[in-house]
Amino acid sequence: MIKKYSSKISGLGKYLPENKVTNDHLSTLMDTSHDWIVERTGIEERRFIAKDSTEGTASMGVKAAQQAIDRAGISKDDIDLIVFATLSPDYYFPGSGVLVQDLMGIGTCPALDVRNQCSGFIYALSVANQYICTGTYKNVLVIGSEHHSGGLDLTTRGRTVSVIFGDGAGAAVVSRHENPEEGVLSTHLHSEGKHAKELSLIGPSTKKWVHEVFENYDPNDPDYHPYMNGQLVFKNAVVRFSEVIGEALTKNNLKPSDIDMLIPHQANLRIAQFVQKKFGLQDDQVYNNIMRYGNTTAASIPIATCEAWEEGKINSGDHVMLAAFGSGFTWGSSLIKWV
Ligand SMILES: CC(C)(COP(=O)(O)OP(=O)(O)OC[C@H]1O[C@@H](n2cnc3c(N)ncnc32)[C@H](O)[C@@H]1OP(=O)(O)O)[C@@H](O)C(=O)NCCC(=O)NCCS
Repeated sequence: MIKKYSSKISGLGKYLPENKVTNDHLSTLMDTSHDWIVERTGIEERRFIAKDSTEGTASMGVKAAQQAIDRAGISKDDIDLIVFATLSPDYYFPGSGVLVQDLMGIGTCPALDVRNQCSGFIYALSVANQYICTGTYKNVLVIGSEHHSGGLDLTTRGRTVSVIFGDGAGAAVVSRHENPEEGVLSTHLHSEGKHAKELSLIGPSTKKWVHEVFENYDPNDPDYHPYMNGQLVFKNAVVRFSEVIGEALTKNNLKPSDIDMLIPHQANLRIAQFVQKKFGLQDDQVYNNIMRYGNTTAASIPIATCEAWEEGKINSGDHVMLAAFGSGFTWGSSLIKWV
Protein backbone atom coordinates (compact mmCIF):
# COMPACT_ATOMS: atom_id res chain seq x y z
CA MET A 1 0.00 0.00 0.00
CA ILE A 2 1.28 3.48 -0.85
CA LYS A 3 0.56 5.27 2.40
CA LYS A 4 -0.34 8.94 2.00
CA TYR A 5 -1.96 9.39 5.40
CA SER A 6 -2.49 7.72 8.73
CA SER A 7 -5.90 6.97 10.25
CA LYS A 8 -7.13 7.60 13.78
CA ILE A 9 -10.25 6.81 15.77
CA SER A 10 -11.87 10.22 16.09
CA GLY A 11 -15.12 9.17 17.82
CA LEU A 12 -16.51 6.14 19.67
CA GLY A 13 -20.06 5.12 20.53
CA LYS A 14 -21.91 2.19 22.02
CA TYR A 15 -25.44 0.98 22.60
CA LEU A 16 -26.60 -1.81 24.87
CA PRO A 17 -30.27 -2.79 25.13
CA GLU A 18 -31.69 -1.99 28.57
CA ASN A 19 -32.97 -5.50 29.22
CA LYS A 20 -30.46 -7.22 31.56
CA VAL A 21 -30.47 -11.02 31.64
CA THR A 22 -28.75 -12.54 34.65
CA ASN A 23 -27.30 -16.02 34.95
CA ASP A 24 -30.00 -16.77 37.49
CA HIS A 25 -32.63 -15.90 34.91
CA LEU A 26 -31.02 -18.27 32.38
CA SER A 27 -31.10 -20.94 35.08
CA THR A 28 -34.90 -20.73 35.00
CA LEU A 29 -34.85 -21.56 31.26
CA MET A 30 -32.22 -24.31 31.15
CA ASP A 31 -30.14 -26.58 33.33
CA THR A 32 -27.28 -24.24 34.19
CA SER A 33 -26.16 -22.16 37.16
CA HIS A 34 -24.62 -18.78 37.96
CA ASP A 35 -21.56 -20.51 39.39
CA TRP A 36 -20.97 -22.71 36.32
CA ILE A 37 -21.20 -19.75 33.95
CA VAL A 38 -18.97 -17.47 36.06
CA GLU A 39 -16.37 -20.16 36.64
CA ARG A 40 -16.07 -21.10 32.94
CA THR A 41 -16.59 -17.71 31.27
CA GLY A 42 -16.57 -14.85 33.80
CA ILE A 43 -20.00 -13.72 32.56
CA GLU A 44 -22.44 -12.45 35.22
CA GLU A 45 -25.09 -10.91 32.99
CA ARG A 46 -25.72 -9.89 29.40
CA ARG A 47 -28.26 -7.75 27.52
CA PHE A 48 -30.97 -9.20 25.31
CA ILE A 49 -33.25 -7.08 23.15
CA ALA A 50 -36.62 -7.17 24.91
CA LYS A 51 -39.11 -9.57 23.30
CA ASP A 52 -41.63 -6.80 22.56
CA SER A 53 -39.03 -4.45 21.09
CA THR A 54 -38.56 -3.67 17.40
CA GLU A 55 -34.84 -3.10 18.01
CA GLY A 56 -32.47 -4.95 15.68
CA THR A 57 -28.89 -5.20 14.49
CA ALA A 58 -29.00 -2.12 12.25
CA SER A 59 -31.03 0.06 14.63
CA MET A 60 -28.67 -0.65 17.52
CA GLY A 61 -25.78 0.15 15.17
CA VAL A 62 -27.40 3.49 14.37
CA LYS A 63 -27.50 4.48 18.05
CA ALA A 64 -23.83 3.61 18.55
CA ALA A 65 -22.93 5.32 15.26
CA GLN A 66 -24.72 8.55 16.12
CA GLN A 67 -22.80 8.81 19.38
CA ALA A 68 -19.50 8.14 17.58
CA ILE A 69 -20.27 10.76 14.93
CA ASP A 70 -21.21 13.36 17.57
CA ARG A 71 -18.03 12.68 19.52
CA ALA A 72 -15.95 12.93 16.34
CA GLY A 73 -17.40 16.41 15.90
CA ILE A 74 -18.49 15.74 12.33
CA SER A 75 -21.86 15.48 10.59
CA LYS A 76 -23.35 12.29 9.15
CA ASP A 77 -22.90 13.94 5.76
CA ASP A 78 -19.12 13.82 6.27
CA ILE A 79 -19.17 10.00 6.26
CA ASP A 80 -17.48 8.69 3.08
CA LEU A 81 -17.96 4.95 3.68
CA ILE A 82 -19.93 2.70 6.07
CA VAL A 83 -18.37 -0.63 7.06
CA PHE A 84 -20.74 -2.83 9.07
CA ALA A 85 -19.49 -5.94 10.84
CA THR A 86 -21.98 -8.55 12.07
CA LEU A 87 -22.79 -12.25 12.10
CA SER A 88 -26.43 -11.49 12.83
CA PRO A 89 -27.61 -9.21 10.00
CA ASP A 90 -31.23 -8.04 10.04
CA TYR A 91 -31.85 -9.74 6.70
CA TYR A 92 -30.35 -12.52 4.63
CA PHE A 93 -29.78 -9.70 2.14
CA PRO A 94 -29.15 -6.79 1.79
CA GLY A 95 -26.57 -6.23 4.49
CA SER A 96 -27.12 -4.08 7.55
CA GLY A 97 -24.73 -1.36 6.32
CA VAL A 98 -27.26 -0.05 3.82
CA LEU A 99 -30.00 -0.25 6.47
CA VAL A 100 -27.93 2.01 8.71
CA GLN A 101 -27.43 4.35 5.78
CA ASP A 102 -31.18 4.57 5.26
CA LEU A 103 -32.07 4.89 8.96
CA MET A 104 -29.51 7.69 9.42
CA GLY A 105 -30.39 9.46 6.17
CA ILE A 106 -26.82 9.27 4.87
CA GLY A 107 -26.92 10.03 1.12
CA THR A 108 -25.23 7.67 -1.35
CA CYS A 109 -21.84 6.88 0.12
CA PRO A 110 -20.76 3.23 -0.26
CA ALA A 111 -21.80 0.77 2.47
CA LEU A 112 -20.39 -2.71 2.86
CA ASP A 113 -20.84 -5.55 5.32
CA VAL A 114 -18.01 -7.60 6.80
CA ARG A 115 -18.83 -11.21 7.75
CA ASN A 116 -15.97 -12.13 10.02
CA GLN A 117 -17.81 -12.79 13.27
CA CYS A 118 -15.75 -12.11 16.41
CA SER A 119 -12.89 -10.67 14.33
CA GLY A 120 -15.33 -8.54 12.34
CA PHE A 121 -14.44 -5.23 13.91
CA ILE A 122 -10.68 -5.72 13.35
CA TYR A 123 -11.32 -6.68 9.72
CA ALA A 124 -13.63 -3.66 9.31
CA LEU A 125 -11.08 -1.34 10.91
CA SER A 126 -8.46 -2.70 8.54
CA VAL A 127 -10.69 -1.87 5.54
CA ALA A 128 -11.27 1.66 6.87
CA ASN A 129 -7.55 2.10 7.52
CA GLN A 130 -6.62 1.07 3.98
CA TYR A 131 -9.07 3.48 2.35
CA ILE A 132 -7.94 6.34 4.56
CA CYS A 133 -4.21 5.71 4.26
CA THR A 134 -4.40 5.69 0.46
CA GLY A 135 -6.22 9.03 0.54
CA THR A 136 -9.46 7.65 -0.92
CA TYR A 137 -11.70 8.60 2.03
CA LYS A 138 -11.50 10.97 5.01
CA ASN A 139 -14.10 9.59 7.43
CA VAL A 140 -15.21 5.96 7.60
CA LEU A 141 -18.00 4.84 9.93
CA VAL A 142 -17.16 1.40 11.31
CA ILE A 143 -19.92 -0.42 13.19
CA GLY A 144 -20.06 -3.76 14.97
CA SER A 145 -23.54 -4.85 16.04
CA GLU A 146 -25.11 -8.13 17.04
CA HIS A 147 -28.60 -9.35 17.77
CA HIS A 148 -27.84 -12.81 19.11
CA SER A 149 -30.74 -13.37 21.48
CA GLY A 150 -33.34 -14.11 18.80
CA GLY A 151 -31.32 -17.05 17.41
CA LEU A 152 -30.04 -18.72 20.56
CA ASP A 153 -31.37 -22.06 21.73
CA LEU A 154 -32.38 -21.04 25.26
CA THR A 155 -32.99 -24.61 26.39
CA THR A 156 -30.65 -27.09 28.03
CA ARG A 157 -29.84 -28.44 24.56
CA GLY A 158 -28.22 -25.12 23.59
CA ARG A 159 -26.70 -24.17 26.94
CA THR A 160 -23.00 -24.40 25.98
CA VAL A 161 -23.49 -21.64 23.40
CA SER A 162 -26.42 -19.63 24.68
CA VAL A 163 -25.03 -18.64 28.08
CA ILE A 164 -22.09 -16.91 26.38
CA PHE A 165 -23.66 -14.46 23.94
CA GLY A 166 -25.34 -11.06 24.33
CA ASP A 167 -26.75 -8.24 22.19
CA GLY A 168 -25.22 -4.82 21.63
CA ALA A 169 -23.49 -2.43 19.25
CA GLY A 170 -20.34 -0.35 19.12
CA ALA A 171 -19.08 2.12 16.54
CA ALA A 172 -16.02 4.15 15.63
CA VAL A 173 -15.45 7.01 13.24
CA VAL A 174 -12.07 6.39 11.62
CA SER A 175 -10.62 9.60 10.20
CA ARG A 176 -7.66 10.87 8.21
CA HIS A 177 -4.66 11.87 10.33
CA GLU A 178 -1.61 13.63 8.94
CA ASN A 179 1.06 12.25 11.30
CA PRO A 180 2.11 8.73 10.19
CA GLU A 181 3.70 8.08 13.59
CA GLU A 182 0.25 8.15 15.25
CA GLY A 183 -3.15 6.52 14.87
CA VAL A 184 -3.53 2.99 13.51
CA LEU A 185 0.08 1.78 13.30
CA SER A 186 -0.71 -1.64 11.83
CA THR A 187 -3.39 -4.27 11.35
CA HIS A 188 -2.81 -8.03 11.08
CA LEU A 189 -5.44 -10.43 9.75
CA HIS A 190 -5.62 -14.23 9.51
CA SER A 191 -8.11 -16.99 8.71
CA GLU A 192 -8.11 -20.77 8.73
CA GLY A 193 -11.16 -22.05 6.88
CA LYS A 194 -10.60 -25.69 7.73
CA HIS A 195 -12.30 -24.96 11.07
CA ALA A 196 -15.28 -23.17 9.48
CA LYS A 197 -17.93 -25.50 10.90
CA GLU A 198 -16.50 -25.62 14.43
CA LEU A 199 -18.27 -22.37 15.31
CA SER A 200 -21.12 -21.90 12.90
CA LEU A 201 -24.81 -21.55 12.16
CA ILE A 202 -25.73 -23.60 9.08
CA GLY A 203 -29.37 -22.77 8.42
CA PRO A 204 -31.32 -21.11 7.00
CA SER A 205 -28.87 -20.72 4.15
CA THR A 206 -28.35 -21.89 0.58
CA LYS A 207 -27.42 -25.25 2.12
CA LYS A 208 -30.70 -25.25 4.03
CA TRP A 209 -33.16 -23.10 2.11
CA VAL A 210 -35.82 -21.16 3.96
CA HIS A 211 -38.73 -23.14 2.42
CA GLU A 212 -37.19 -26.26 3.96
CA VAL A 213 -37.38 -24.57 7.33
CA PHE A 214 -41.08 -23.90 6.91
CA GLU A 215 -41.99 -27.25 5.39
CA ASN A 216 -39.78 -29.57 7.42
CA TYR A 217 -38.82 -27.53 10.43
CA ASP A 218 -37.46 -29.77 13.10
CA PRO A 219 -36.60 -27.89 16.28
CA ASN A 220 -34.22 -30.70 17.16
CA ASP A 221 -32.16 -30.20 14.01
CA PRO A 222 -28.93 -28.70 15.38
CA ASP A 223 -28.26 -26.92 12.07
CA TYR A 224 -30.80 -24.24 13.00
CA HIS A 225 -28.94 -23.18 16.12
CA PRO A 226 -25.39 -21.94 16.56
CA TYR A 227 -22.92 -24.77 17.03
CA MET A 228 -19.64 -24.41 18.89
CA ASN A 229 -16.89 -26.92 19.54
CA GLY A 230 -16.04 -25.09 22.76
CA GLN A 231 -12.82 -26.85 23.66
CA LEU A 232 -11.35 -26.59 20.15
CA VAL A 233 -12.32 -22.91 20.03
CA PHE A 234 -10.70 -22.31 23.41
CA LYS A 235 -7.46 -24.10 22.47
CA ASN A 236 -7.14 -22.24 19.17
CA ALA A 237 -8.12 -18.91 20.69
CA VAL A 238 -5.33 -18.81 23.28
CA VAL A 239 -2.72 -19.69 20.62
CA ARG A 240 -3.96 -17.32 17.93
CA PHE A 241 -4.57 -14.37 20.28
CA SER A 242 -0.98 -14.72 21.49
CA GLU A 243 0.47 -15.06 17.98
CA VAL A 244 -1.33 -12.09 16.52
CA ILE A 245 -0.56 -9.78 19.47
CA GLY A 246 3.07 -10.85 19.16
CA GLU A 247 2.94 -10.11 15.43
CA ALA A 248 1.77 -6.53 16.05
CA LEU A 249 4.43 -5.97 18.72
CA THR A 250 7.20 -7.28 16.44
CA LYS A 251 6.01 -5.22 13.48
CA ASN A 252 6.14 -2.05 15.59
CA ASN A 253 9.31 -2.96 17.47
CA LEU A 254 7.55 -2.88 20.83
CA LYS A 255 7.57 -5.03 23.98
CA PRO A 256 4.51 -6.24 25.94
CA SER A 257 5.32 -3.65 28.61
CA ASP A 258 4.80 -0.94 25.95
CA ILE A 259 1.10 -1.87 25.70
CA ASP A 260 -0.87 0.72 27.67
CA MET A 261 -4.19 -1.01 27.05
CA LEU A 262 -5.00 -4.41 25.56
CA ILE A 263 -8.61 -4.70 24.49
CA PRO A 264 -9.20 -8.35 23.67
CA HIS A 265 -12.40 -9.44 21.97
CA GLN A 266 -14.63 -10.39 24.90
CA ALA A 267 -14.95 -14.10 24.09
CA ASN A 268 -14.39 -15.55 27.51
CA LEU A 269 -12.71 -13.99 30.56
CA ARG A 270 -10.57 -17.12 30.94
CA ILE A 271 -9.11 -16.61 27.45
CA ALA A 272 -8.35 -12.94 28.21
CA GLN A 273 -6.72 -13.92 31.52
CA PHE A 274 -4.58 -16.54 29.77
CA VAL A 275 -3.38 -13.94 27.25
CA GLN A 276 -2.74 -11.37 30.01
CA LYS A 277 -0.58 -13.86 31.89
CA LYS A 278 1.25 -14.96 28.76
CA PHE A 279 2.40 -11.39 28.05
CA GLY A 280 2.97 -10.54 31.73
CA LEU A 281 0.47 -7.67 31.64
CA GLN A 282 -0.82 -5.96 34.78
CA ASP A 283 -4.57 -5.68 35.43
CA ASP A 284 -4.56 -2.01 34.40
CA GLN A 285 -3.11 -2.95 30.99
CA VAL A 286 -6.14 -5.05 30.00
CA TYR A 287 -9.79 -4.02 29.67
CA ASN A 288 -12.58 -6.55 30.17
CA ASN A 289 -16.32 -6.01 30.39
CA ILE A 290 -17.59 -9.49 29.47
CA MET A 291 -18.92 -9.75 33.04
CA ARG A 292 -21.64 -7.23 32.15
CA TYR A 293 -22.35 -7.90 28.48
CA GLY A 294 -21.29 -11.46 27.60
CA ASN A 295 -19.77 -12.05 24.18
CA THR A 296 -21.20 -9.51 21.74
CA THR A 297 -19.05 -10.82 18.86
CA ALA A 298 -18.32 -8.03 16.30
CA ALA A 299 -19.58 -5.43 18.78
CA SER A 300 -17.37 -6.46 21.68
CA ILE A 301 -14.19 -4.57 20.75
CA PRO A 302 -15.87 -1.25 19.89
CA ILE A 303 -18.07 -1.47 23.02
CA ALA A 304 -15.06 -2.23 25.23
CA THR A 305 -12.87 0.42 23.58
CA CYS A 306 -15.64 2.98 23.95
CA GLU A 307 -16.17 2.11 27.60
CA ALA A 308 -12.42 2.15 28.39
CA TRP A 309 -12.17 5.57 26.73
CA GLU A 310 -15.22 6.86 28.64
CA GLU A 311 -13.61 5.71 31.89
CA GLY A 312 -10.43 7.66 31.05
CA LYS A 313 -8.39 4.48 30.63
CA ILE A 314 -7.25 5.33 27.09
CA ASN A 315 -5.42 8.60 26.57
CA SER A 316 -3.53 10.44 23.90
CA GLY A 317 -0.15 8.80 23.20
CA ASP A 318 -1.19 5.40 24.59
CA HIS A 319 -0.40 2.22 22.69
CA VAL A 320 -3.76 0.45 22.43
CA MET A 321 -3.75 -3.15 21.22
CA LEU A 322 -6.97 -4.63 19.83
CA ALA A 323 -7.06 -8.39 19.27
CA ALA A 324 -9.75 -10.88 18.30
CA PHE A 325 -10.34 -14.53 17.49
CA GLY A 326 -13.50 -16.27 16.41
CA SER A 327 -15.59 -18.20 13.94
CA GLY A 328 -14.01 -18.95 10.58
CA PHE A 329 -11.62 -19.39 12.30
CA THR A 330 -10.54 -15.79 11.82
CA TRP A 331 -8.30 -13.69 14.01
CA GLY A 332 -6.55 -10.34 13.92
CA SER A 333 -4.97 -7.47 15.79
CA SER A 334 -4.44 -3.77 15.43
CA LEU A 335 -1.97 -1.57 17.25
CA ILE A 336 -3.06 2.04 17.65
CA LYS A 337 -1.09 4.99 18.98
CA TRP A 338 -4.04 6.89 20.40
CA VAL A 339 -4.51 10.45 19.22
C1 LIG B 1 -17.97 -23.12 26.21
C2 LIG B 1 -17.04 -23.45 27.35
C3 LIG B 1 -17.21 -22.43 28.47
C4 LIG B 1 -17.43 -24.82 27.88
O1 LIG B 1 -16.54 -25.17 28.91
P1 LIG B 1 -15.88 -26.61 28.91
O2 LIG B 1 -15.05 -26.70 30.11
O3 LIG B 1 -15.20 -26.79 27.59
O4 LIG B 1 -17.13 -27.50 29.07
P2 LIG B 1 -17.56 -28.80 28.24
O5 LIG B 1 -18.15 -28.41 26.92
O6 LIG B 1 -16.42 -29.77 28.25
O7 LIG B 1 -18.69 -29.34 29.16
C5 LIG B 1 -18.43 -29.73 30.49
C6 LIG B 1 -19.73 -30.15 31.11
O8 LIG B 1 -20.52 -28.98 31.36
C7 LIG B 1 -21.80 -29.13 30.75
N1 LIG B 1 -22.26 -27.82 30.32
C8 LIG B 1 -22.12 -27.23 29.13
N2 LIG B 1 -22.69 -26.02 29.14
C9 LIG B 1 -23.21 -25.84 30.37
C10 LIG B 1 -23.92 -24.81 31.00
N3 LIG B 1 -24.22 -23.66 30.36
N4 LIG B 1 -24.29 -24.98 32.29
C11 LIG B 1 -24.00 -26.09 32.96
N5 LIG B 1 -23.33 -27.12 32.41
C12 LIG B 1 -22.94 -27.00 31.14
C13 LIG B 1 -21.57 -30.08 29.60
O9 LIG B 1 -22.76 -30.70 29.22
C14 LIG B 1 -20.58 -31.04 30.21
O10 LIG B 1 -21.26 -31.95 31.03
P3 LIG B 1 -20.78 -33.47 31.13
O11 LIG B 1 -19.40 -33.41 31.69
O12 LIG B 1 -21.79 -34.06 32.05
O13 LIG B 1 -20.83 -34.00 29.74
C15 LIG B 1 -15.55 -23.48 26.90
O14 LIG B 1 -15.34 -24.57 26.05
C16 LIG B 1 -15.16 -22.24 26.20
O15 LIG B 1 -15.11 -21.19 26.81
N6 LIG B 1 -14.83 -22.33 24.92
C17 LIG B 1 -14.49 -21.15 24.15
C18 LIG B 1 -15.77 -20.44 23.86
C19 LIG B 1 -15.56 -19.12 23.23
O16 LIG B 1 -14.71 -18.38 23.60
N7 LIG B 1 -16.40 -18.84 22.24
C20 LIG B 1 -16.38 -17.61 21.57
C21 LIG B 1 -15.36 -17.65 20.54
S1 LIG B 1 -15.16 -16.14 19.88
